[in-house]
Amino acid sequence: MKLATLLDSGLEWSNPDRGGEHPGVVINDIANRPRPQARVITVANEKGGVGKSTLAFHLCVALADAGYEVLGVDLDRRQQSLSRALVNRSATANRLRVKLPQPRHVVLHHQTGAMLAQEIARLGAACDYVVIDAAGTDCGIVRRAVAMANLLISPVTSSFVDLDLLGRLHPLTRAYRGPGCFAEMVLDLRAARRAAGLAPLEWAVLRNRRRRDNSHDQNRVEAALQELAGQLDFRLGEGLSERVIYRELFLLGLTHLDLGRIPDLARSHSVAVSEVRQLLDLVCPATLAACAA
Ligand SMILES: Nc1ncnc2c1ncn2[C@@H]1O[C@H](COP(=O)(O)OP(=O)(O)OP(=O)(O)O)[C@@H](O)[C@H]1O
Ligand SMILES: [Mg+2]
Repeated sequence: MKLATLLDSGLEWSNPDRGGEHPGVVINDIANRPRPQARVITVANEKGGVGKSTLAFHLCVALADAGYEVLGVDLDRRQQSLSRALVNRSATANRLRVKLPQPRHVVLHHQTGAMLAQEIARLGAACDYVVIDAAGTDCGIVRRAVAMANLLISPVTSSFVDLDLLGRLHPLTRAYRGPGCFAEMVLDLRAARRAAGLAPLEWAVLRNRRRRDNSHDQNRVEAALQELAGQLDFRLGEGLSERVIYRELFLLGLTHLDLGRIPDLARSHSVAVSEVRQLLDLVCPATLAACAA
C-alpha cells in the first residue's frame, strides 16, 4: 500500500472537541443589542503570537493617521498589548510635545456581550472604526467579537502549525480534509449569522511576520493557504513582514507613520510605511488612493 494511503487511513480529520458556546446563542446575543454605527474590524486567531496585537495597533494608528475616529478595544485583559501600546503613545506625545493622531482605547475587563456593546456605545459612538484585538483563545467574548464584526482579520505566520487551526491537510498530499478548530468556529458563526438574516461576515487571512527568504517551505505554505482560501472562503492578503523595528517602537507607542512628525526620530523606512498603508487598502480602499495622491 502507498504511504499516502496508509497515512490517510490512520488519521482522524475532524476536530474531536467541538466545545464552546453555541453559535446560535452567540449570534442571538449580538443580534439583540444595538448595532454600532462604526465599522467593526476584529483581529482574531486562536493561535497565539501570530502578531494580532501588533497588527491591531498598526491598524488603529493607520486609520487615525488617515483622519478617521478610531476606538481600539482590547479583549486581552491580562497582556493588554494593544492598550499598553496606545498608552505609551500618549506618553510619548506628551513627553516630546508633538501632536500625534490618538485612537481611543479601552480594555474590556468585564467580558460579557452586554459590556462589549456598552463600551462600544459609550466610547465609540462618534467613531468611524472600532478595532477589536482578541486574545489567542476560544471563549465567549472572542466569539462575540467575531460574530459582531464587519470584517474579521486573522494573521497567520508561514507555518503549517498556524495553518492547522484553519484547515486539516493531508500530511503528504496536503489535500484539504476539513476545517481546523478556529475556522470551524468562524464557519459556524457565519452559518448562524446567515440563519438570523444578518449580513455575511467578511474574512481576511493575512500572511504576517513573513521573512524575506523565498524558501521551498514558504512556497508549500503559500500553496496550502491558497487551497484553504478557496475551501473556507476567505480573502488572502499581506500583513506586516518580520522586522525588529515593529517591536522596538512598542515602548514608544509609535509606528513608522509617526516618524516624520518627530524630527529626531525621522528616518527613511519607506518599505515599512507602505506595508502599514497597505493595511488601509484592506479596510478602506478609498483612503489608500487618497494617501497615494
Ligand atoms: N511584524 C513583526 N515583526 C517583528 N516582530 C513582530 C511582528 N509582529 C509581532 N511581532 C512580535 O511577536 C510577538 C507576538 O506579537 P503579538 O503580541 O502582536 O502577537 P499576538 O498574536 O497578539 O499574541 P497573543 O496571542 O499572545 O495575543 C511580540 O514579541 C511582537 O513584538
Ligand atoms: Mg495579543
